[in-house]
Amino acid sequence: MGPMNTPDNIKPVRKAVFPVAGLGTRFLPATKVMPKEMLTLVDRPLIQHAVEEAKAAGIEEFIFVISKGKEILKDHFIKHEALTKTLEARGKTQQLEAVKSCEIPADKLHLAYQDEPLGLGHAIWCAREFVGDEPFAIMLPDDVVLGDAGCLTQMIETYNKAGGNLVAVMDVPKEDTNKYGILDVHSDDGKLADIKGLVEKPEPENAPSTLSIIGRYILQPEIFEKLSGHEKGAGGEIQLTDAMAKLIGEQPFNGLRFDGTRYDCGHHLGFIEANIAYSMHSPKIGSQVKEIIEKIANGTEEKIHVAAG
Ligand code: UTP
Repeated sequence: MGPMNTPDNIKPVRKAVFPVAGLGTRFLPATKVMPKEMLTLVDRPLIQHAVEEAKAAGIEEFIFVISKGKEILKDHFIKHEALTKTLEARGKTQQLEAVKSCEIPADKLHLAYQDEPLGLGHAIWCAREFVGDEPFAIMLPDDVVLGDAGCLTQMIETYNKAGGNLVAVMDVPKEDTNKYGILDVHSDDGKLADIKGLVEKPEPENAPSTLSIIGRYILQPEIFEKLSGHEKGAGGEIQLTDAMAKLIGEQPFNGLRFDGTRYDCGHHLGFIEANIAYSMHSPKIGSQVKEIIEKIANGTEEKIHVAAG
């Protein structure tokens, strides 16, 4: 079911916000001048993986929340006339397709500026004028989900039946609750959890559950009222979780356990893990990558020793 099949009483999700104004400090020095979201997962930047997942879910408008100097994130999706012409003239059809795969029409791609990285909640608030008065998706490109159906596609299918607000959730080890937004669950059928509370980064002993939010959300526009107070939460940041918690009780709020494996590309090891997993699962290069990894792991790769003459 796409957004066009939404029942009359549920407004379709047509827009997605991509908060990409952060500093990416965990990736320094790689991210000194290069945005974290432009780092390559197999063959395309993280931001393109997120945009493609959104497109596959039926999203029509794309809102990037960026900071000064990160405009390259927009350029990646705008038609590159010179490159297109050259590839056409040389008959490079495959490469042409690759370039076209990341084009978004200029009037469907909006930039909202966040002048200071005050937190995820503040970044979302910066997108309010482009979102307007309709439900919208939020996608954090750091989080990638490998599976058959895209994570946002699964969420929109559920949203089209349930309406309200919906976050993607997964169980995390108890000792990791202080890295995530954690759910306080009212009822749970194993797939969909009805949420009665949310806590940002609780210590394991205070965590109401181990169900944590990952970087995919569908929210109603009333979230902007809850964000407008700019109240600081955990880590001194304006937290999206705190604003979402205020919507609970006023509107339906559910967590969806999605099918797939989630990788956290926000730090070195998670990024390396994601690259291994995605490249091993690639129909094009998967078997070669497996061979390479086995060789290196077994220490049987070719080594060149040049003896001094
Ligand atoms: P992260 O905390 O993972 O990203 O925020 P970061 O701040 O760039 O990275 P580190 O912690 O310094 O290494 C999750 C997402 O929210 C965005 C980030 O760009 C990232 O996509 N974000 C975060 C903003 O857009 N603005 C903010 O103020 C904070």
